[in-house]
Amino acid sequence: MELPSQPSVVINGTRLLARIAELAQIGAIEGTQGCSRLAFTDADREGRDLVVTWMTDLGLTVTVDAVGNVIASTGNAGAAGAVMAGSHIDTVGTGGRFDGNLGVLAGLEVIEATLAADIDVKRPLAVAFFSNEEGSRYPPDMMGSLAYVGGMSVESVLEVEGADGTIVGDELERIGYRGPAPCPGAVPHAFVELHIEQGPVLDNEEIQIGVVEGVQGISWTELKFVGQSNHAGTTPMALRRDPMAVAAEVTVAARSIATDLGGPQVATVGSLTLHPNLVNVVPAHATMTVDLRNTDETLLREAEKQLMNSVQQIADREDITVESRSLARFEPVEFDKRVVDSIEAIAQQKGLSTRRMPSGAGHDAQMMARICPTGMIFVPSLDGISHNPAEHTDDEDLIAGAQLLADAMLALTEVTW
Ligand code: GLV
Ligand code: MN
Ligand code: MN
Repeated sequence: MELPSQPSVVINGTRLLARIAELAQIGAIEGTQGCSRLAFTDADREGRDLVVTWMTDLGLTVTVDAVGNVIASTGNAGAAGAVMAGSHIDTVGTGGRFDGNLGVLAGLEVIEATLAADIDVKRPLAVAFFSNEEGSRYPPDMMGSLAYVGGMSVESVLEVEGADGTIVGDELERIGYRGPAPCPGAVPHAFVELHIEQGPVLDNEEIQIGVVEGVQGISWTELKFVGQSNHAGTTPMALRRDPMAVAAEVTVAARSIATDLGGPQVATVGSLTLHPNLVNVVPAHATMTVDLRNTDETLLREAEKQLMNSVQQIADREDITVESRSLARFEPVEFDKRVVDSIEAIAQQKGLSTRRMPSGAGHDAQMMARICPTGMIFVPSLDGISHNPAEHTDDEDLIAGAQLLADAMLALTEVTW
């Protein structure tokens, strides 16, 4: 692809790494490199406060919207017409220090380096951190960016009840991040998210940059199985109505559905709660989640259909009642070909090794793709480990990704759609 001549800056890798390390001190999981900053907790507030301080110290215009999304811009119209970077700074309960944080702090670094270079840039630059990308405390994932693009109303975000019984609106108010800026938010000129791959492909193939073409579809379902709680010693096996036995069979069925469908289909049971959860009591109920993902919407629907058929069959056999609820459902997303092509061309021009790939994880970029031309850059994750405190990306890969983000953002300031 032919690239327009473009302004360029050199990012300060040392400053970027220092900020990643400093943010990782908040909610640090002792004895590891990882963090726990679940959305809207005190640790999330502390992380937000630190990043907002960095943003305001640069003299950026900082806005907080009605669901807690924070945007910093070099212009005074917020994200409107800006070339925007962004991601999230909340983590899963057992998170690493790079997931999300890299994209936010690299975006901030691109802005700081550009301001310091004092070059002529045709459009404002912006960086965002979106609320509750992880969705582990409050479903769905990508909640903040979904609201930003108008895919979920502010009212419905604020009333979501979390796994711990708390309510989003109360917690957002409590941490002081229920802001006045409008949501849905302004439409940027383009959006680019730098993120760690969180999978093994780049590391295995020793490739520096993943040029992300899209994000696979995500389906989260909560299943509650209700049976008959009873004495573990006196209730004969044939007379039990055991919801845990059903949960176990459904777990195995979900795994078989994924392996039988093959290809990119994955299935995960990541949460299982029993009540009363005691050694000598047949449980009264079992609540579990199933996360199904596929790059192909038709196959994802097939996996969902097969899962629900198995659930019904297994539960009927055990005389168990099923309550099911969708926690998140997003179709696969394709990124803008022009943005994808230019990220690839710039990376190759800089001598970086690249590979096109889909994203297995959900990302704020998949929501932003609904309102503006969007793309993503991946850097390798050591051994493909993520959502784990052991998550690691080498410094040189973090810096190469951030430099590519700078080059891509500045190139996009020159492009008209
Ligand atoms: C969100 O990060 C997800 O992919 O689950
Ligand atoms: Mn992430
Ligand atoms: Mn994550």
